[in-house]
Amino acid sequence: MDVLTSPAQMHAWRTKVTGSVGLIPTMGYLHDGHLSLVRASRQRDTATVASIFVNPTQFGPGEDFERYPRSEADDLRLLEEAGVAAVYLPSAAAMYPDRYQTYVEVEEVTRRLEGEHRPGHFRGVTTVVLKLFNAVQPGRAYFGRKDAQQLRVIRRMAEDLDLAVEVVPCPIVREADGLAMSSRNIYLTQAERAAAPVIFRRLRVAGAAWAAGERRAEALREIVLRGLASEPLATVEYVSLADDVTLEEREGIVAGPALLSVVVRFGRTRLLDNLELV
Ligand code: PAF
Repeated sequence: MDVLTSPAQMHAWRTKVTGSVGLIPTMGYLHDGHLSLVRASRQRDTATVASIFVNPTQFGPGEDFERYPRSEADDLRLLEEAGVAAVYLPSAAAMYPDRYQTYVEVEEVTRRLEGEHRPGHFRGVTTVVLKLFNAVQPGRAYFGRKDAQQLRVIRRMAEDLDLAVEVVPCPIVREADGLAMSSRNIYLTQAERAAAPVIFRRLRVAGAAWAAGERRAEALREIVLRGLASEPLATVEYVSLADDVTLEEREGIVAGPALLSVVVRFGRTRLLDNLELV
């Protein structure tokens, strides 16, 4: 497995590779969710590249950039075992040298949900993802459905900018008790970790109501909210039932597909999850 630490090194590696290249963009501290993306790429692509870069431009002031968990040696070992051909591991100075001033902004689909609660977040995400695409030049790039809005924003960018990259969505990977895997789960105290599966339990109750024919947006949101309100360690940031593509909030009677998404805080930890209602 090759490790490349600058755009120039990555380009040089890429010119020697023929066949399809799949990219798994990550911020490291890898878990089985990331490795499932590697497996998806390995089934389809000739060579799989994973990137590890904790991207400063997607963190707002007061967010967890400084304390974001890092585990480079373990990550490299896991990626090598998973059969990745190369790891792109650029430094912040290589990605954002002095006098850097170019950013990518996707408009409407970034305005609500995470965009509203984390101003500037998606500008950082789309900028770094486009830079990663440029460095690696993948034919496919793999993203988890847990970051549902991120997936839609990147798809929009790829389509709008005519990028020759297929954005491949992959299923959410969960712990045995239903908690969606996330590098940030490590921040949870023991009590918070024990309580956190309430998120997916409530999404499933709403999913069952949907399957039984409930189509009232307010009632579906309320099923999730009510259950979360009964968990004293949980503080709900939002529960949204939105159009699956535009992410406009739905009201009244909803026809599928729709995205039911939530953000819940446990102490200082912000957890995202969602369920696609089809
Ligand atoms: O989902 C993530 O880990 C990050 O937002 C990404 C796509 C690697 C960009 O920094």
